[in-house]
Amino acid sequence: MKVLILAAGLGKRMKSKYPKVVHKILGKPMINWVVDLGRKFGEVGVVVGRKAEVVKSYLPVDVKTYLQEPQLGTGHAVMCAKEFISPSDDVLILYGDVPLLKEETIQRLLETHTNARADVTVLTFIADDPTGYGRIVRENGKIRIVEHKDANEEQLRIKEVNSGIYVFSGKFLLDNIDKLSNNNAQGEYYLTDLIGMANNVETVLLNDPVQVFGVNDRVQLSQLEAVARDRILKELMLSGVTIVDPASTFIGPDVKIGIDTVIHPFTILEGEITIGEDCEIGPYTRIKNSILGNNVKVVRSEVEGAVIEDNVSVGPFSRLREGTILRENVKIGNFVETKKSTIGKNSKAQHLTYLGDATVGEDVNIGAGTITCNYDGYKKYQTFIGDNAFIGSNSSLVAPVKIGKGAIVGAGSVITEDVPDDALALGRARQVIKEDWAKLKREAMKNANHKE
Ligand code: UD1
Ligand code: CA
Repeated sequence: MKVLILAAGLGKRMKSKYPKVVHKILGKPMINWVVDLGRKFGEVGVVVGRKAEVVKSYLPVDVKTYLQEPQLGTGHAVMCAKEFISPSDDVLILYGDVPLLKEETIQRLLETHTNARADVTVLTFIADDPTGYGRIVRENGKIRIVEHKDANEEQLRIKEVNSGIYVFSGKFLLDNIDKLSNNNAQGEYYLTDLIGMANNVETVLLNDPVQVFGVNDRVQLSQLEAVARDRILKELMLSGVTIVDPASTFIGPDVKIGIDTVIHPFTILEGEITIGEDCEIGPYTRIKNSILGNNVKVVRSEVEGAVIEDNVSVGPFSRLREGTILRENVKIGNFVETKKSTIGKNSKAQHLTYLGDATVGEDVNIGAGTITCNYDGYKKYQTFIGDNAFIGSNSSLVAPVKIGKGAIVGAGSVITEDVPDDALALGRARQVIKEDWAKLKREAMKNANHKE
């Protein structure tokens, strides 16, 4: 099947510099909700127009785009994508600004369409207020769609309306698309006029119209955000995830969570995330594009682009950045930042540390205040720390540098040269003791004050 997404409109009422369809719902641009849904059913093409380059920059590389310039209506949009349509394939039409349609609804539409060998199958719904929608007009056993602005009084009273989602037979579409005219109230080429030209029209009535609600302004954007959020949280809870406070929890559509994991309040999970079983996430945590194993704890922390294996604990107040890999049983404590670093099994960095471009072995202890000095103002350099090494508190490891297995770095050291396996490295000034110096100083100051 072919899936054609119409997304050429600008969306003036968004009052935005950006095209409407790139505005986000739960951290994911609307167009990507629709593209991902479409990809479940076949090859995807997108009709772009206003700010086409911006829209294109959000699309996966295998998605074809067709430029519609200027925008002369939904029928014209499909004409612009004629080369995408083949006579042997059905074509599903979706809108780039209708993000919450469910897979099962499309499934139902396709079943009806295929069983009836229809020319076109239209997804309809009953609108309490049908203003603005095309009306489904059934007369003498025939179905056609009359747009709101073209409807007479009797037609305006019809509450069954066109959702704008259809499946067309590719052959019917190619045979008829060029017959459309713009002889109507809006001077547009209406895709809906094809319905009246077809002999075999089917309709599928949708009972849950929110699935086909579009976004026209930012109020509707927030309304659909709330619907999406509620839907996702419910699915997760029913699948075995505890969400302590749904009202303060935001979880995107591409997040998978295992059973018996608990999501604490004020947690935001965005992008592509996999979380295993028995994890505790939050409170006050934001995770983006990461993979977490089982029994992982992340408290009051920011995590992005990280891989975290089983039994790891992170936070409070940690920041794991892109390219962080934490192997099993690692402990990352408060005020620790990691970037492009791998931390081996059972290793710990519990307090006030920066690990950037570092490879840390197993069973390593990173003392409080350890910093990998990975940047000289021009380039980034690597730090290697062997298994069982012990890095004393407040050490600076000036990369490129290698700390051998089982080596100890004395607290307060600045390490600029490689440390061999099992060695002790001290890189600090020797301590000096001056007996009674403080006391003598105190007395001298006191005498000086008396004289004044
Ligand atoms: C259309 C239907 C109407 C239906 C309604 C549901 C037509 C003529 N009417 O209304 O029956 O009830 O959807 O929401 O099809 N677009 C383009 N190029 C264009 C015009 C539109 O790509 O030239 C895209 C828009 O970006 C949008 C979608 O098509 O994603 C629908 O356009 P919109 O103007 O909202 O639909 P209407 O014509 O109002
Ligand atoms: Ca609309």
